[in-house]
Amino acid sequence: MIARVPDVARIGLLGRGTVGAAFHELVVQRADAIAAAAGRRPEIAAVLRRSEGDFDALLEDCEIVVELIGGTEPARDYVLRALRAGRHVVTANKQLVAQFGDELFDAARDAGVQLRFEAAVAGVVPVIRVIQESLAATEITKVFGIVNGTTNFILTEMANTGASYEDALLRAQELGYAEADPSDDVGGADAAAKMAILARLAFHTPVGLEDVTYEGITEIQPDDLAYAKEFGLSLKLLGVAERRDGGISVRVFPCFLYRHHPLAPVEGPFNAVMVEAPAITEITMSGPGAGGVETASAVLGDVVSILTGRAQVHAVREELEVVRDVNSSFYLHLEVADRPGVLARIADVLGRNEVSVRSVVQRGLGDDARLVMVMHECPEASFAKALDEIAPLDFLRSQPRAIRVIEEEFV
Ligand SMILES: NC(=O)c1ccc[n+]([C@@H]2O[C@H](COP(=O)([O-])OP(=O)(O)OC[C@H]3O[C@@H](n4cnc5c(N)ncnc54)[C@H](OP(=O)(O)O)[C@@H]3O)[C@@H](O)[C@H]2O)c1
Repeated sequence: MIARVPDVARIGLLGRGTVGAAFHELVVQRADAIAAAAGRRPEIAAVLRRSEGDFDALLEDCEIVVELIGGTEPARDYVLRALRAGRHVVTANKQLVAQFGDELFDAARDAGVQLRFEAAVAGVVPVIRVIQESLAATEITKVFGIVNGTTNFILTEMANTGASYEDALLRAQELGYAEADPSDDVGGADAAAKMAILARLAFHTPVGLEDVTYEGITEIQPDDLAYAKEFGLSLKLLGVAERRDGGISVRVFPCFLYRHHPLAPVEGPFNAVMVEAPAITEITMSGPGAGGVETASAVLGDVVSILTGRAQVHAVREELEVVRDVNSSFYLHLEVADRPGVLARIADVLGRNEVSVRSVVQRGLGDDARLVMVMHECPEASFAKALDEIAPLDFLRSQPRAIRVIEEEFV
């Protein structure tokens, strides 16, 4: 009997940097196994980098385009041209999908091809596939988690060693967890792009980067983390996308979690995403959030899905409004003159704004005192108004610092 030689699936690779080179190697290593499982043998037919290759020739020569250049241009132009030419596209580029999702999905739908991007969110954690495929028939109410490994590493380092933000960032750069220019990660824009993608898929509604309210971790101080320990809290940069008041809210913010929360033990460069829905209660997925080989493996998983012809379910069902004023619970850190009546004045401001206090720790600092309070959940606008009234009070020694707290306790 003559063994059947599997068809070759020709891949055009755009970008051969950290992820692209790892992907190229992985394709070579795994080609036989994929051929056995999927019936077709993937092969890198052409490569385009700044220093080599020609896009038109690559397009002519392949049926799947893998975009691992990064950034928005020329990646957007290449991906659109590939989709319009009837090529399936796989990308790891979160900014591209978050900023130009509508245009890209329309182009893929019009051409009847797939656009896959598992590696764009939470690295190797298969959260996109779970939301798009496993939970396609489930009404998801909330998707949230730690979707940026760089900031999770920095916050873990600060909490475990007492390091300043600057020293923890340096350490992250030395270990390769942070880029030379870390602003997208530490400022929250990277996590915001990922949350825009997750919200779009979970709620079947168009969501762009401009719909996400985000903050980063650059203002976090070591003593915030020290006090948090006293309250049994750990600090994470959290992305939260949820249905609220008939619309959706998509936000990224540093936030304290109680010790029993499933995301509290997620440390270092790891990512973890939780999905909630009435039908499934909740699912938690975690794993490495980045890295060349890990990301390449998620990219190759998308290629295999295309080869096996697995249908991709993505359709906009309704246009949901973005709700910006939501309820949150806050931690408030104040340095004040240590004199009678101070606590009462602060309690008065909070009370008038309908913000109630859950716990307080007070410490003497010579003539001054440090007040650390955790509030019950209240409208963010009410808390912001109270903060505006507290900031100019004459007994305050420095700017108030506030960080959100997730109140749910998982026991
Ligand atoms: N690194 C990670 O751990 C990770 C994790 C998740 C997602 N991602 C995403 O994966 C993608 C690739 O990241 P990376 O870390 O592999 O980037 P990288 O190391 O900087 O590699 C970029 C590659 O793109 C090529 N390139 C840049 N500009 C180009 C242009 N104008 N035309 C043609 N080629 C161009 C470069 O060419 P030369 O080789 O000629 O310079 C290089 O080969 C990004 O979207 C990133 O966000 C990365």
